[in-house]
Amino acid sequence: MKQLIQVKVNGQMYEEEVEPRMLLSFFLREDIGLTGTHVGCVVGECGACSILLDGRLVKSCLLLAVQAHGREITTVEGLASEGAFHPIQEAFVKHYALQCGYCTSGMLLAGHYLLTRKPDSSEEEIRRGLAGNLCMCTGYTQIVDAVKEVAREYKKE
Ligand code: FES
Ligand code: FES
Repeated sequence: MKQLIQVKVNGQMYEEEVEPRMLLSFFLREDIGLTGTHVGCVVGECGACSILLDGRLVKSCLLLAVQAHGREITTVEGLASEGAFHPIQEAFVKHYALQCGYCTSGMLLAGHYLLTRKPDSSEEEIRRGLAGNLCMCTGYTQIVDAVKEVAREYKKE
């Protein structure tokens, strides 16, 4: 039997009926159409499905949609504001930190989460902060460079 959930995603309230076993990642993509959250391994290894849940970085393939009831989510679509890229998105473009883009939304949220908590992160800390996110094509150098550069913007906030 479907269950009613209420969840705030990128500042907007959604009220939806979901199957109790529906994964949060599929809820975001299929029920409310936020396809920026990617699904890769579905076992918590690749990080493509990373989102912020009540401000904490989580892998949405490891959660059920019903577990998000009453909570607040930020997906990659919530980073940009008023049609303008977030500085971390601009840094990824500048550093060519993506190729196919499959890992990109997860990388952006992992980098954003890290810098929000620790804007003065060292390169080693950045690499550790992104360790839960795999990239099959770009390699990590450009991604780390992008996160390192944009850290200055987070220090100003
Ligand atoms: S799809 Fe969630 S970690 Fe890979
Ligand atoms: S850019 Fe293709 S997986 Fe990272």
